[in-house]
Amino acid sequence: MSLAVVRSIAGPVLHAVKQGPFSLRESVRVGPQALLGEVVRIHGDEIVVQVYEDTTGLRPGIEVQGDGQPLAIRLGPGLLGRIFDGLLRPLSGTTSDFVQPGMRTAAPGRLHFEPGVAVGALLAPGAVIGMAGDTGGSAGRAQRCLAPPDVGGTVESVVAAGGYAEDETVCVLRLGDGRRRELAMGHVWPVRTPRPVSRRVPSTAPLVTGQRILDCLFPVAQGGKAAIPGGFGTGKTVLLEALAKGCNADVIVYLGCGERGNEMAGVLDEFPTLTDPRTGRALMERTVIIANTSNMPVAAREASIYCAITVAEYFRDQGLHVALMADSTSRWAEALREVSGRFGELPGEGGYPAYLSSRLADFYERAALVETLACGTGSVTVMGAISPPSGDFSEPVTSHTKRYVKAFWALDVKRAQARFYPAIHPLQSYAEDAREFAPWWAAQGNGQWLALRRRFLTLLDEQAQLERMARIIGKDALPARQQLTLLCAELVNEAFLRQSAFSPVDRVCSPARQAAMMRLLGRFIDLAEAALAAGAEPERIAGIGCMRAVQRMGEDIADHELPRFAELEARMEREFAQIAKPPDTLDTHDAAHG
Ligand SMILES: Nc1ncnc2c1ncn2[C@@H]1O[C@H](COP(=O)(O)OP(=O)(O)OP(=O)(O)O)[C@@H](O)[C@H]1O
Ligand SMILES: [Mg+2]
Repeated sequence: MSLAVVRSIAGPVLHAVKQGPFSLRESVRVGPQALLGEVVRIHGDEIVVQVYEDTTGLRPGIEVQGDGQPLAIRLGPGLLGRIFDGLLRPLSGTTSDFVQPGMRTAAPGRLHFEPGVAVGALLAPGAVIGMAGDTGGSAGRAQRCLAPPDVGGTVESVVAAGGYAEDETVCVLRLGDGRRRELAMGHVWPVRTPRPVSRRVPSTAPLVTGQRILDCLFPVAQGGKAAIPGGFGTGKTVLLEALAKGCNADVIVYLGCGERGNEMAGVLDEFPTLTDPRTGRALMERTVIIANTSNMPVAAREASIYCAITVAEYFRDQGLHVALMADSTSRWAEALREVSGRFGELPGEGGYPAYLSSRLADFYERAALVETLACGTGSVTVMGAISPPSGDFSEPVTSHTKRYVKAFWALDVKRAQARFYPAIHPLQSYAEDAREFAPWWAAQGNGQWLALRRRFLTLLDEQAQLERMARIIGKDALPARQQLTLLCAELVNEAFLRQSAFSPVDRVCSPARQAAMMRLLGRFIDLAEAALAAGAEPERIAGIGCMRAVQRMGEDIADHELPRFAELEARMEREFAQIAKPPDTLDTHDAAHG
């Protein structure tokens, strides 16, 4: 082990004089409490260390000890269902409310292990060595235990099925070079190194989020990346939580990065009480929460984003689809800026270090749909919130992130102020590979998806222009055709884009229901245009009897009541047929339906 002696300390950064070799990014322990740190620079006989824990009370003269390896975390089946700090040290299931200084990553738990390999078998790197489940029996489903992605060999011995500590040896390999290697259920992996895969594959399916505006207008690929920029209080956290609860990923990794403690407390209190709509079991069973609040040491925040994505990759390597929610990447960037300032680096744009952009790229690049080494396909989809100061999307974090994400879900202050949720602005948002998902939607019985999507977006775009004009000349002065455009656009907003995260019926919307709603609205617009062409006034169309039912269909008709959409559509057809008739021929029977 190499040693160094601390010369100076400035917040989370310390300078130390080397007494042995250190390598860049080597993990170190500082002082008698063995505080966790990382070597971020080496010049001459001096190393610069970023310390991930509170440095208050440290003095020059104390020792820094090298670990001889980069900053790494212990990955294993015990991660699911638990809450960790930014360095993957458990915050739940420990005896103390706080992480003790110098504590290393996840304390091992005891799990049931079922071996999946026999003595003499050849084990490829990253292959499955067995299954692990909770010894309690009821909680937690079985998980695959993997050999590290860089270790393969011949199985020399393997334990019998039974209960073992997560870091206990369950299998011994003889490597190609004759050395032996002991494997446990979990393994250690350096956080800044992406875990290897067989190959990346292009994604043709979206991550189903359960949010209509996202799935239908701005879909993100399974294995894709999305940014959620939004000013203060526009609904980033509520949206990320809604996605965590409602998306179709197998595993959720939720990273609370530098947000206020009370916001994180909301997540921590709520998640353990939620049931998974897909399985009826606790949602926490397939969730890992990593919490690094604004009052925790700033340097650890910088590392937390890498820990979170490494955890996500670990589950991906088991052949699972993982969604990673990061709230907020701006707080991560601020940590980067603060630590960089302490190093005395030259500040770039917005005071951020010049490497902000490449760091963001490194992070988002790790999202992918892949062929794993041993478990078929798996994916990591990344969704990162951004909190631009004063909601200005031209600031560095937003503008650099834009270069690396395919889906951009812009939250709008005006919509949020009008309590229109989710406050995603349909004209400022985009999804670059939306067209790729048309076959997927067709397979869901929504072959019209791309056409309807284009139609809705065109309407919303026309609405923005017409509203500008209407402010000048007054809405009533607009030609009837344009008044109808405004009416239909308003309906798309109200009936389709608005979706409360707190409504029991509407907080998650299944693709089948989304398709039914899209179709019904498309039909409404067709009928309204036909009625207008036949001479009906826009006011008459606006006053149609089914209007309220259409506006409220998201709240009223649940996922399991799809036939009710056909009933509503039939009513709509009847009422439009009525409108098309001149008033004097009004059929009293049909009018009664209005
Ligand atoms: N989808 C939604 N459905 C219903 N209400 C919402 C929704 N999104 C946001 N809200 C309302 O807006 C409030 C603020 O939302 P949220 O805390 O998510 O904002 P934020 O962007 O995370 O704020 P901050 O910048 O402070 O982190 C919520 O408390 C809630 O009342
Ligand atoms: Mg928030």
